[in-house]
Amino acid sequence: MSWWQDTVCYELYPRAFADSDGDGTGDLAGATARLGHIAELGADAVWITPFYPSPLADGGYDIADHTGVAPDLGTPEDFDRLTSRAHELGLKLIVDLVPNHTSDRHPWFREALAAGPGSAERARYLFRAGRGPSGQLPPNDWQSAFGGPAWTRVADGEWYCHLHAPEQPDLNWRSPEVRSGFADVLRYWLDRGVDGFRVDVAHALFKAEGLPDAGPGQHRDPLRNHLMPYYDQEELHPLYREWRTLLDTHPAPPGAVPPRDRVMVAEAAVFDPARLARYIRPDEMHQAFNFAFLEARWDAKELRDVIDASLPSPGGGAVTWLLSSHDAVRPVTRLGSAARARAAALLMLALPGAAYLYQGEELGLPQAAVPDDRLRDPLWERSGHTERGRDGSRVPLPWSGDSAPYGFTTGAPDSTWLPQPDGWARYTVAAQEHDPASTLNLYRAALRLRREHPAPDPTAAPHWYSAPGDPYLAFRRAGLTCVVNLGPAPLAWAELGVTGRPVLASGALEGEAVPGDTAVWVV
Ligand code: GLC
Repeated sequence: MSWWQDTVCYELYPRAFADSDGDGTGDLAGATARLGHIAELGADAVWITPFYPSPLADGGYDIADHTGVAPDLGTPEDFDRLTSRAHELGLKLIVDLVPNHTSDRHPWFREALAAGPGSAERARYLFRAGRGPSGQLPPNDWQSAFGGPAWTRVADGEWYCHLHAPEQPDLNWRSPEVRSGFADVLRYWLDRGVDGFRVDVAHALFKAEGLPDAGPGQHRDPLRNHLMPYYDQEELHPLYREWRTLLDTHPAPPGAVPPRDRVMVAEAAVFDPARLARYIRPDEMHQAFNFAFLEARWDAKELRDVIDASLPSPGGGAVTWLLSSHDAVRPVTRLGSAARARAAALLMLALPGAAYLYQGEELGLPQAAVPDDRLRDPLWERSGHTERGRDGSRVPLPWSGDSAPYGFTTGAPDSTWLPQPDGWARYTVAAQEHDPASTLNLYRAALRLRREHPAPDPTAAPHWYSAPGDPYLAFRRAGLTCVVNLGPAPLAWAELGVTGRPVLASGALEGEAVPGDTAVWVV
């Protein structure tokens, strides 16, 4: 079995993880100094989200230089220190690759604007003439994921496509220059010692030939609609095969994993398990986030349906579970309580396959309320102030102390990248460290036990003790059985045919019974 098939990877959002220089923004040196937290947690790998030069129109996912380091986060040498420290601690390091779009400040886009219609420079992006008598209408009906049309008009009258913010022009993946430019980006980071890549919006790089309209009504739920002309196109797969060959063959520097152990994880918002399985065929990517699991409600049937659709893994690829990310509402808030989020963690960590944790999940952080005037997410402006966006899960981590900035920075509390709420003293790492009932210690224990009881086949369905209609989930992973009670009444596990002693529970047990919104691991 390869390490990535059942790995636990920790998502590190650098601006909100730890600050080393007192400016209130987390940075690479701060991350390096705090990597021990992730190693002690028991994770196997770290995925660090973009730390590249960026005007920050979309939290760093608008990249002006794919092989640089943002000056406020550090230097290339700081990145090298982060990599070697991770490797010293036995952690693999994965970086973000954002190939769908660049920043509008990227040299390619500036050149495209300067060179004008019909130029080779414009051919790296998706520039088109508009519709209507004077070209005053967008070239088609596509919508941006952040609201409004996916097109912006430039001074000479052409329009360019952006599936996200206007500051994130989409690249033309049929351009040979774009293709070879990104192969160079991959080689650059491999040479710097990374162990893999998380590929941003991996379902969107290619748009259907001719950029046809999506058609009336098609935008209602674009992510669940694989017929959208800008999602899930066939041409993605030869590209991912090319990248896989590159990863498998490009030499590895000392300290990094050998070429064939490197990983690519697709952020492909494709909800049909059979379609998603196509991204993780043996010669394509290794993992693809299971967003259907992240989006499932706290409902036994809904969760069971997602698990049954994902295991056994339709194409035999690694299933990759997650409960949170920098884009999602924190599970404590989304699922409705800390008790449920803790139970969900034991559910996820018992399932065969890999799991991704997002910083702060292990502290049980709720979604933070960020005041209007501090919101940074482009969703807020683009939605006409109707959607607050994702900043509530991007608030700096609380490490210690009784009040903001909770050890995150030596700077002033009001200097932090996003403001931290009052009342977070009980969530700090320091406050939870020595409390055996804390969420931090629940995660630590779960990761240790999970490692002691590896699933024999991370792509196979577990042995179920519960039936699809039951208000609970009970299944065996190797020698360990997980029982999650989603209903109100206490549940005696012996009655399900589960024998053994409880080794970990997300809340207090009632003798040999699991109360509602609680999970137990029995060995
Ligand atoms: C991905 C990122 C998200 C970003 C978007 C556009 O979904 O996770 O944060 O806004 O891509 O780059």
